[in-house]
Amino acid sequence: MVFWACGCVSLGPGFASAAAAAAAARPSVAEVRSQRNAVFSREQARQRALYPRIEKIEVSMQGPGLDGTLLVMNRGMSTPLSCARHLTEYHVNNSVLALVDGEPWPLHQPLTDSCSMTLLTFKDSDPTLANQAYWRSCAALLGQVLQTAFKDDYTVELLSTPEVPVTSGAFCCDVALDPQLDSWTPSEESLRSLTKGAQQLIHKDLPWEPLEVAPSVALEVFSHSRCKQEEVEEKAAQHPKGRVTLYRCGDHVLLSAGPLVARTGLCSQYEVTALHSLGQGPWGLHRRAQGLSLPLQLQAHHTVWRKLRQRAEKLVEVSRLEEAAPPSPPDSTPPPTSQ
Ligand SMILES: *[C@@H]1O[C@H](CO)[C@@H](O)[C@H](O)[C@H]1NC(C)=O
Repeated sequence: MVFWACGCVSLGPGFASAAAAAAAARPSVAEVRSQRNAVFSREQARQRALYPRIEKIEVSMQGPGLDGTLLVMNRGMSTPLSCARHLTEYHVNNSVLALVDGEPWPLHQPLTDSCSMTLLTFKDSDPTLANQAYWRSCAALLGQVLQTAFKDDYTVELLSTPEVPVTSGAFCCDVALDPQLDSWTPSEESLRSLTKGAQQLIHKDLPWEPLEVAPSVALEVFSHSRCKQEEVEEKAAQHPKGRVTLYRCGDHVLLSAGPLVARTGLCSQYEVTALHSLGQGPWGLHRRAQGLSLPLQLQAHHTVWRKLRQRAEKLVEVSRLEEAAPPSPPDSTPPPTSQ
């Protein structure tokens, strides 16, 4: 039984009419997308307008062969990627993330002050930060694919994504699908179809555009999703300045717990390996989609890939401490706390 829409899922005729009736009562996936995009674009324009005059800042580059390089850039406009463009094509192609005055800084995030900058790549002697951002980005890509994989008749709620280390063997994206799909068990073919969706996004080489916003803006972006709104409030409460970071990739707007890499084209091998059922949770049947990926600069031979893939199929257990505190609906017993 397959019910993909664009390479997407389709059910039997009885299901379809019930689903269509339910779908008629809510905005379409396309409407939700365009509303989220509109709010994102409006806020991005507002933030850019905060720097109406060209003002110069100095960026002192650090890293192999760059020490002592000073770039004169534009405040509120130039990004680490603009800096990379002043260097070499190698820097443009291979930079994953930047460190600005020692802090991780997305490649498309405008610089607001004179600073020191290091451009990070997967080939650095310590690629920990680049790898973490990569894993997080692979999970974000999986969410983006899941969000559009099903016909409009079925809701797809992306849940707060557990941050898992690269050593866990798979990146994860938690999702609650339409209750009408509760009995659906994804086949190998469904997983292949999701993989194909991700590979299309990789091929498009889309940037991940960051935008740090006040919670009110994020709440407006996610006005159609109670689940995302709760996540916005949790993330804002954890942030020192009470703000949250949105990213846009193509026409998909998401909430991220940490920096994402520069663009989808940094992924090379990418495969969706599992869609496990986690049981009933606050948002219905929770499922954990998992996948495996390697960046362009680090290809694996197919025998190695096969071994990694087998490992990536096994359910990644997320400890309660790693997981963002799950919301508890008013009429159920609150989950036991671990602290
Ligand atoms: C950078 O990427 C482009 C496009 O993939 C490629 O044509 C070019 O050879 C790359 N250059 C370097 C120096 O890696």
